[in-house]
Amino acid sequence: METIQSLLESRIRVAIAGIAELEPQVTPTADSRFGDYQTNVAMILAKQQRANPRQLAQQIIEKLDVDGLCEAPQIAGAGFINFRLLPDFLANQLALLIRDERLGVPLPSRIKKIVVDFSSPNVAKPMHVGHIRSTILGDSLARIATFIGHDVVRDNHIGDWGTQFGMLLVGWKSELNQEALEADPLSEMERIYKLISVRCKEDPATLDRVRQELVKLQGGDEENLALWKQMIRLSQAQFDTVYSRLGVRFDATLGESFYNPRLGPVVSELRERGIAVESQGALCVLSDHRLPEKEDPFLIQRDGQWTDIPAIVQKADGAANYTTTDLATLQYRFETWKPDEILYVTDGRQQLHFRQFFTIFERWQPELAAKTRLAHVWFGSILGDDNKPFKTRSGETIRLVDLLDEAEERALKIIAEKNPLMPEIEQREIATIVGLGSVKYADLLPSRQSDYVFSWDKMLSLQGNTAPYLMYSYVRIQAIFRKAALEPAGEESLVISLSEPAEIALVKKLLLFGEVLPQVLVDFRPNVLANYLFELASTFHGFFEACPVLKAEPAVRAMRLALCKVTAKVLARGLDLLGIAVPERM
Ligand code: ARG
Repeated sequence: METIQSLLESRIRVAIAGIAELEPQVTPTADSRFGDYQTNVAMILAKQQRANPRQLAQQIIEKLDVDGLCEAPQIAGAGFINFRLLPDFLANQLALLIRDERLGVPLPSRIKKIVVDFSSPNVAKPMHVGHIRSTILGDSLARIATFIGHDVVRDNHIGDWGTQFGMLLVGWKSELNQEALEADPLSEMERIYKLISVRCKEDPATLDRVRQELVKLQGGDEENLALWKQMIRLSQAQFDTVYSRLGVRFDATLGESFYNPRLGPVVSELRERGIAVESQGALCVLSDHRLPEKEDPFLIQRDGQWTDIPAIVQKADGAANYTTTDLATLQYRFETWKPDEILYVTDGRQQLHFRQFFTIFERWQPELAAKTRLAHVWFGSILGDDNKPFKTRSGETIRLVDLLDEAEERALKIIAEKNPLMPEIEQREIATIVGLGSVKYADLLPSRQSDYVFSWDKMLSLQGNTAPYLMYSYVRIQAIFRKAALEPAGEESLVISLSEPAEIALVKKLLLFGEVLPQVLVDFRPNVLANYLFELASTFHGFFEACPVLKAEPAVRAMRLALCKVTAKVLARGLDLLGIAVPERM
C-alpha cells in the first residue's frame, strides 16, 4: 500500500504541475496543533521564483485536490501548507493496513543488491564485546533491507590471515595445553598468543622464531598450513555457537585468506597505473591533490601543515595488508554479486582506513565507483560505569559468551520473581528472549556513532525505552486476546469508524511504520526504528487506558480488537527487524 506521505506528495505534484517542476516533500508535523503532515514546497518555489511564499501557497491550495484525505489545507508561518487527516480516510487506511502483509511498507522504487560486511571477527581470538555491535547492527540492517525488498548478501569477512599466526604457531608448538584446548579452544589460543607476544618483547630469539614460522606459513609449509586450518576450524565452531544463540546467519563466510591469490595482481595493477608509488621500499597510495585538503584522506594536519598520510598497499617486506585485501575483496564481490551497495560495519577507529580504501577504489575503478555506494557504517564504543572502555573488574576484555550468559541469568532472576508459579523451563525460555533482546536493544537504541555506557539495570528495566518495555506491550496485547477467547465471540464483521482521539492517535502511529522503516536505510540507523517502536508502544498504552476494549459494545469491541492485533503485529515485526524475539507471556 502507498504511504500517506507519498499519497500527499502525488497530489501536490499534480497541483504544482502548471507552476513549476519540483519534487515536493511532505513530512509529519512535529506539533499536532499544526495538523499531521506539512510541506514546504511553496517556500522552495518562492525562492526559485522570487515570489511571496504565502501567496504561492494559496495558489497551490486552490489547485490541490485532497478531498477525502484531509480537511481544507492551512497555510502557516512563512508559507508551510499543513494537512489534517480525516478520520474516515484514516479508517480506510487502517483497513488496508490490517490486510497488508508488508504492514504498510512500500516496495522500493528499485530493488538493490546490497552486501552487508559485518561481524568479521579475527580467528584465534575470542569474540569480545566490541564485535557485538558489528554483529547486532549488521544483522539488523540486513533484516531491514531484506524486508523492504532488497536482495541482500550477508558476508562475514573473518580475519584469518595476518601476523598473529606467527605467534600462534610458535605458541602452539611449544606451549600448548592439549586439555585446555579441548575444553575451551579460543581461551587456550588466546593464552598462548599473549604468552608469546609478551616474550617477543623481551627476547629477540622468540621474535625471530615467530617471523620464521610466519614465513613458513606464507610459503605454504604443510605442517603450518595444517595447524592454521585447525585454528580456523576451532574458532569457527565457537563463532557459530554465538551466532546461533544470537539468531544471526550469513550467506558467505570468506576469510581474508580467501583473497590471497588476488593480492599480487591487484598490487601490480595499482603500480602499473601509477595509483601506487614506491616510498622507502613500500608501495603507497598518496594524495593526488584533487580533493580539498580537508576532505583528502591522504593528508593530515600536523603543526598547522598538511602532511602526507599514505595508504600502504605493499609493505617493504613484500607482504600485502588490510587495504590490499579489501581491494581484492571488492573485486571478488563485483565479479560474484554485482552489488549496488556495500555496507562495512566496523568500529569508528577504522574510519581512516575506509576513507582511504574508498578513494583508492574511485581511482582504480572509476566506472564501478560512480554507480556503487560504499558505506562505512561505523559505531562508537561500549563503555563501563567509569566511562572507560567496558572491561571486567580485573581489567580483561569481556568475552561475548560471558556477557550473553549474564544477560540470561539476570533476566531469569527478574522473571522468576515476577512469576514464582511459572514452571522453570518456561521461565528460562522467557529469560533467554528477554536477556538477549535487552542486550541487543541497548546496543541499537543509541545513535550508532556515539559511545554508550553499558548498564544492566537500565537495559533490563520494564520502564523507559527498553526491550522489556516493548516486549511487555506486546505481551499485554496477547493477554487481551487470551481473555477475549474466554468470552463468546461477537458475530460482528469489522466496520471501522474512528471517533476517540486515542484511537485516532494510535492509527496514525501505526500508519507511520511504512514511512519510518525506509528511513533506516538512508543513513543506516536502526535507532530510528527503535525510537518509533517506543512511541508506538507508548501510544498504545495511552489508547488502552482511554478506550475499553473487551467491555465495549460489540462493533466497537471488534474494531478495537483489530487495532490491538495490528499493533501487536507491528511491534513483533519491528522487534524482529532489530533481531529481537518476543515472548507470549512474561
Ligand atoms: N576483522 C576486522 C576487525 O576485527 C574487521 C573486518 C571488517 N571488514 C572489512 N572488509 N574490512 O577489525
